[in-house]
Amino acid sequence: MNWGKENKMNRIFAKDGRTVMLAIDHGYFMGPVTGMENPAEATKKLIPHVDSLMLSPGILNSSIPTNFNGGVVLRSSGGSSISQPDITDELLTLEAKEAIKLNASAMAVSFYLGTKHEHQTIKALTKAINTASDFDLPVLAVTAVGKALEDKRELKFLSLASRIAAEFGADIVKTYYCDGFEKLINAVPKPVVVAGGPKLDSNRAVFELVYNSMQKGAAGVDLGRNVWKNNDPEIMIKIIKEIVHNNITPDQAEEMFRDLKK
Ligand code: 5RP
Repeated sequence: MNWGKENKMNRIFAKDGRTVMLAIDHGYFMGPVTGMENPAEATKKLIPHVDSLMLSPGILNSSIPTNFNGGVVLRSSGGSSISQPDITDELLTLEAKEAIKLNASAMAVSFYLGTKHEHQTIKALTKAINTASDFDLPVLAVTAVGKALEDKRELKFLSLASRIAAEFGADIVKTYYCDGFEKLINAVPKPVVVAGGPKLDSNRAVFELVYNSMQKGAAGVDLGRNVWKNNDPEIMIKIIKEIVHNNITPDQAEEMFRDLKK
């Protein structure tokens, strides 16, 4: 890896090789989702606690202070929305040179294995990888599951998708946690970050998701709704940071939550 690419990766990942990435890109297909109606307002108190942000170019430009010096992972694919029954019809929406102009640390591209848009979205991913390479710009591949694929959050599907992303040259793979996650990590020779998905039933479940992911070899988490849909998003992000970087356990996380709530 040359200096330029390594420097960009170092903006995403802290010195320990781990990242707390906050995902706020949901508006690109969900519009003003609850909790993220006003991105500048919703992220103001969270930004000091994150290593990196995953977001779309419009929200970066409009809502994030220009003195933010963490990693910027720019949503670079899209093309359908929740107003359609099928949200998998995506293509590349951002050129690598535009991402570079925005001082991005990486492009993020989703691909939808097992859908009728598998081929098209893999093509978008590989196009991003090939063009980003001209600028030594990393690419984060999102192993998207889509609405119809909710039941695909299991080892066989997620390790298939994650390995394919790594084979094509993605620098970072974003996927879901699943039973047997350590086998996925063993089969994917790139840093893997874990997405959260819809809001979980309890804070404890979020702490366990983050803790288990890290213990089984994830390089970080890229959570969205389980942070900013929570009633205490600032407390949640502070605790997630402690789990990711200092390995605090779910029990300790719960204790920290009680202390910070006081
Ligand atoms: C959408 C994404 C989101 O960034 C991802 O799903 C993470 O957010 P959440 O934790 O809310 O699921 O990549 O395609």
